[in-house]
Amino acid sequence: MPAKQPQTLPGTTDRRIDALLTLLAGNPTIVISGAKIAKEIGVSRQQVFRWIETLRTLGVRVKGHARTGYHIERAPDILAPQLLKHRLRGTAFSKRIYHFFKADSTNTIAMHLGEAGEPHGAVVLAEDQTAGRGRAGRSWLTEKSVGICCSVLVRPQIPPAHAPLLTLVAGLAARDAASDGLKSPIDIRWPNDLLTGGRKFGGILTEMHAEPDRLHYAVIGIGLNVNQQKMPAQIDDIATSLRIESGNQHSRLELLIRLLRHLDRYYNLYLAEGAAPILHRFAEVSSYFRGKRVRITTHRETFTGTTAGLEASGVLRVTRDDGRGTESILSGDVAEAD
Ligand code: BTN
Repeated sequence: MPAKQPQTLPGTTDRRIDALLTLLAGNPTIVISGAKIAKEIGVSRQQVFRWIETLRTLGVRVKGHARTGYHIERAPDILAPQLLKHRLRGTAFSKRIYHFFKADSTNTIAMHLGEAGEPHGAVVLAEDQTAGRGRAGRSWLTEKSVGICCSVLVRPQIPPAHAPLLTLVAGLAARDAASDGLKSPIDIRWPNDLLTGGRKFGGILTEMHAEPDRLHYAVIGIGLNVNQQKMPAQIDDIATSLRIESGNQHSRLELLIRLLRHLDRYYNLYLAEGAAPILHRFAEVSSYFRGKRVRITTHRETFTGTTAGLEASGVLRVTRDDGRGTESILSGDVAEAD
């Protein structure tokens, strides 16, 4: 695929706001005059003033004002593309990063990019999603700038039937990225739920455009609850955040950098060595891999059984309680059974 210029998408964050953030974040404690900022990023001083106000409403602690100059109190936790590109050098994800303060769904946007010929490795990020999507038609709730909403576009040359492995690859990456400081280790409930202390703090939605024998592109969408101090009442018995579980505020920027670096590593491992090392790692870290009592709900039925490992394509095997043998679960809901 020829390298195309990054696309201009409606609603993406103006790259000059990105430049403003990078300028301020790169010079914390130094006061920079409005005139100098205006000159460096190529806008008027009034525009700088307006954008500083925008950044303040987003929780970036910018001190000072137009006459005295501005400085930032501490590095802002906005997922600014310029900062990310720099820190992701050497990975597939450093070149095309699309950032939105508000988007409907990063997965939807990334699927459109895939359709329009965007190359492998594009990343779509949103500080907030208005129509975040989860598996099985469920919605994914977010709160502005406290979680991570990230979708990556990949173009692996694998059979479409092996796409479930991409979800496992992303789950392993998210687990490695988020593990520090948690009271309980992270478990992965096949195929896509990230759990700690028995509650879910993250999920993965992999979507693809494929023909029966050819995968054109896939989008791996990762949603993580990071700095929520409490979860909405309707889900707080099953959902949690890293902050609730660790007692600490997390840098979303650092977490996202770790996530994408681990994703790059696991993805390359999968392409180079196939499913085996991914399944091996999944077996090490997921209590759902083998011997777990589960209730499975597919579009056809609900039954109970015991997990019996994964197939090379990433599909889950479950031995049924009703004596009807071992089933391969392609997609469905998995819950722990009593
Ligand atoms: C699930 O657990 O059901 C999957 C949740 C996936 C949510 C993420 S947030 C980023 C990306 N954009 C979406 O609309 N969904 C995924």
